[in-house]
Amino acid sequence: PDEARALKERIAALLHERNAVLVAHYYVDPDIQDLALETGGCVGDSLEMARFGASHPARMLVVAGVRFMGESAKILCPDKTVLMPDLEAECSLDLGCPEDEFSAFCDQHPDRTVVVYANTSAAVKARADWVVTSSVALEIVTHLKERGEKLIWGPDRHLGDYIRRQTGADMLLWQGSCIVHDEFKAEELLALKAEHPDAIVLVHPESPASVVEMADVVGSTSKLLKAAVERPEQTFIVATDQGILHEMRKQAPHKTFLAAPTAGNGGTCKSCAFCPWMAMNGLVGIHDALRHGHNEILLDSALGQAARKPLERMLDFAE
Ligand code: 13P
Ligand code: SF4
Repeated sequence: PDEARALKERIAALLHERNAVLVAHYYVDPDIQDLALETGGCVGDSLEMARFGASHPARMLVVAGVRFMGESAKILCPDKTVLMPDLEAECSLDLGCPEDEFSAFCDQHPDRTVVVYANTSAAVKARADWVVTSSVALEIVTHLKERGEKLIWGPDRHLGDYIRRQTGADMLLWQGSCIVHDEFKAEELLALKAEHPDAIVLVHPESPASVVEMADVVGSTSKLLKAAVERPEQTFIVATDQGILHEMRKQAPHKTFLAAPTAGNGGTCKSCAFCPWMAMNGLVGIHDALRHGHNEILLDSALGQAARKPLERMLDFAE
């Protein structure tokens, strides 16, 4: 603990020296989440991270999350230096949606508006008309449907399917998935619910439909956190990356939070429902990136400009 504290102090000093701010996702290590808040940075869902980075006056952003989050920050703030603790921190949705294949899919349906999830590369975003995150996807698709538009949706098939069922929009879905949320299991969840009949079930919509159907609240990490804090119930079963439990327990210390079951974990497995790429973010990586300028996100400026339009469209819509 002393070592971690000393490292955190050095990082805080470097952030100050470099005119930098730490922007973290709820799924990263609790120490990093706390440090972000203690040093005037942010912990948020992917939309909040993008917004915070774009509006903060710091000239350098250190993004603790996965690569698409660093890229989104760079797309929105081309003049800022964007560093990440580890550039190999990927996302199965991004990896499962290569730009050439996705573009070919879009080319087959030129009459359709292309909506992509933020969990994609800059190149895929540049091919899209709209970028969305889980916190605004429902509203944006509802808006597009009202305008009579037919859609291509990529890459998360579960989120796409959920939005399609909610809105009745005409959507062709790319078949990607998140390796973490895809693992939640409805049958085991039912058994856990039977043990805790008063518990509220919170589900991220990257989960399979059978799990989403059992939810009391479906939404982005921030929406789930808000429900956990604001609802009067005392027990919550949480179907998203377990990193979120840190902030839930901090903000609602007297409530009970149970991890939703993944294949075979019975709800108690500590290593399940942890994103392996989010776990690549560490204090040492943050320190070294700041100290040596390691792991900078660099983007071709024409590509960045093309990707910026659909991303800004989302931010303008979400205001
Ligand atoms: P949020 O938009 O809820 O942050 O989800 C994005 C995500 O999947 C992070 O891994
Ligand atoms: Fe991607 Fe899933 Fe990890 Fe989020 S939790 S970064 S969606 S693999």
